[in-house]
Amino acid sequence: MDEMTVKDIQYITSNINSLWMASKDCSLEPLPQKKALLEQLSNIFSIFPPLDPNGDSRNPLNIILPAYETLWRVVLRCFLEVHFRATSNQAEMQDSLNSLMSCPTQETFEDVSAEGISAKVIVREALRLYPPTRRIHRLISPINPVPHGPWYQLLNLLDMAPTNDPEVIHAIDVEHLHRTPEIWGEDSLTFNPSRTHDAKQVGFMPFGARPFVCPAGNSFAPMMIGICVGALIKAFPDDAEGEGWKLMDVEGKRVDLAKIDGPLDNGREGFSGLVLTRC
Ligand code: HEM
Repeated sequence: MDEMTVKDIQYITSNINSLWMASKDCSLEPLPQKKALLEQLSNIFSIFPPLDPNGDSRNPLNIILPAYETLWRVVLRCFLEVHFRATSNQAEMQDSLNSLMSCPTQETFEDVSAEGISAKVIVREALRLYPPTRRIHRLISPINPVPHGPWYQLLNLLDMAPTNDPEVIHAIDVEHLHRTPEIWGEDSLTFNPSRTHDAKQVGFMPFGARPFVCPAGNSFAPMMIGICVGALIKAFPDDAEGEGWKLMDVEGKRVDLAKIDGPLDNGREGFSGLVLTRC
């Protein structure tokens, strides 16, 4: 498409979000809303005959949904941490992400500054503190840990014997693992890209673990997060007098993220109503 209005983008994204939440709540009947979204998509993308609610290979969401839906929350949290909450290395973090935005290559992604900052470590820390996949469930097929693989090490760490009992439901609380001081130390709840950690460490699994590991986890998704955050920083710059963009709530009151203790709300609705305003 040549152009899409902000109103259309808002309509599509907020409907994806509420349909997603409705899908978790059996008491809700999301079909009318789904039909309305598909009708609107048919209009916006000039699709005729209109999209079939029972499934349609022409649906543009088939293409954009996997990347959009997995990325937006961690992109927003990373942007807020770097741009509105950082107490150290803020300029270096902004520089690294800006460079990646201007030259999106693996080399720029990994380029480490004198302070030890790179877009890669910023993104890794954002994925640690704000994993988009917060929980992974295995219903029937038990976790079949490869000896010395991540699940195996994890079950050992938690002192749990692997089981083949099909009645057992395994659920991995990724967010909890990523925040536990036992693995990450006393400042585990702080966004600190300069922390020294091995991304292969037990308990770091933003992209799951073998055998269901995410195919986008190696390079595509982390670089995409960095590029999107870089684009946001470029679009909403600080100016020299500190007169740049500010965060406001819906009532127009200033929001100061520095006053929040611990990590930012990682829920879908965590920042609904948050507005960027130029003062
Ligand atoms: C930050 C972004 C992303 C995160 C955090 C993420 C996370 C995950 C996780 C945790 C799993 C394993 C789920 C499980 O064990 O049940 C997974 C699987 C998968 N992801 Fe991603 N993902 C991201 C982006 C993407 C994107 C952009 C795509 C495609 C364009 C994608 C495609 C897939 C596919 C196809 C699988 C299934 C792999 C299999 O079962 O063999 N992911 N992802």
